[in-house]
Amino acid sequence: MVEEVSEKGYVDMPVSPGVPLIREINRMRREKNAVILSHYYVEPELQDIADYVGDSLGLSQQAASTQADLIVFIGVHFMAETAKILSPGKKVLLPDLKAGCSLAESAPAAKFAEFKAQYPDHKVISYINCSADLKTMTDVICTSANAVKIVESFPKNQPLIFAPDKNLGNYINTLTGRNMVLWDGACMVHEKFSVEGIVALMEEHPDAEFIAHPECEKPVLLLAHHIGSTTSLLHYVQKSPSRKFIVATESGIFHQMKKACPGKTFIPVPSVDSTCGCSDCSFMKLNTLQKVYLCMKYEKPEIILPPDVMEKARIPIMRMLDLSQS
Ligand code: 13P
Ligand code: SF4
Repeated sequence: MVEEVSEKGYVDMPVSPGVPLIREINRMRREKNAVILSHYYVEPELQDIADYVGDSLGLSQQAASTQADLIVFIGVHFMAETAKILSPGKKVLLPDLKAGCSLAESAPAAKFAEFKAQYPDHKVISYINCSADLKTMTDVICTSANAVKIVESFPKNQPLIFAPDKNLGNYINTLTGRNMVLWDGACMVHEKFSVEGIVALMEEHPDAEFIAHPECEKPVLLLAHHIGSTTSLLHYVQKSPSRKFIVATESGIFHQMKKACPGKTFIPVPSVDSTCGCSDCSFMKLNTLQKVYLCMKYEKPEIILPPDVMEKARIPIMRMLDLSQS
């Protein structure tokens, strides 16, 4: 029987309840010389089986340098795609192909090409949360961890386009005094944090620091004591003397924060339309232990990209990795 990836986007095969999923994943990891890379936003049990858990920059650095033959990416599509572009000779698996990203989807390549054509003198900086096709139209990629450095690598008088996250772009414009033209995209999780909810939490917990990811909207960022990438937020709670933090980013990060600082308290910010008081990325949460097991067993779904797209998209990603080292 040939196991195909179902319309659903993953290998949809029954797994008997007696299968020890974690033990089997560990066995396949050894036997297939696989590395498991996971983003901070996936479920805690998936973070705990990863060889490396990190932010988008750290994950791409790992994907570029791994000696493994097989990369199992527990995250979303653009991340696995980036891993494939950086390691074209390796097999890259994403447990569920439908794990997308609202930011990446906000910038279809054809529409972006029309937009870019209106600004012939501009260079393009794209946030890594975008499709491989968009990367081919980009001069340098950035992540939230290195965006300032990447923007500052261009002369002050160089006009720039920043895509696809208008909130991150706007924040970087403020920090650097640039006037980058912004593509109108946003993260469906980070744009939904409730300012009223944050203010109420700050009043209720006056001893807490409020920290936020730069994908959040400006009114949220204006309230923050610290703004940074997921790794930066994690480092911040570790080094700050505060015991309590109100955190505006996806809920998966709480797992690493609690592990790193068992005595500290972390309070999630409600989203404007949340009923659970938390903020989950529904794309990240498509990853499950069973899907990881099945994708390792059948080595599907695999990320496949046209060679010319990989070649062109690799250039701005490599520029980012080079600039991040200096
Ligand atoms: P970082 O982990 O790079 O901060 O990115 C956050 C994010 O939204 C990833 O999708
Ligand atoms: Fe995309 Fe936002 Fe989900 Fe990150 S949290 S993958 S930016 S939708």
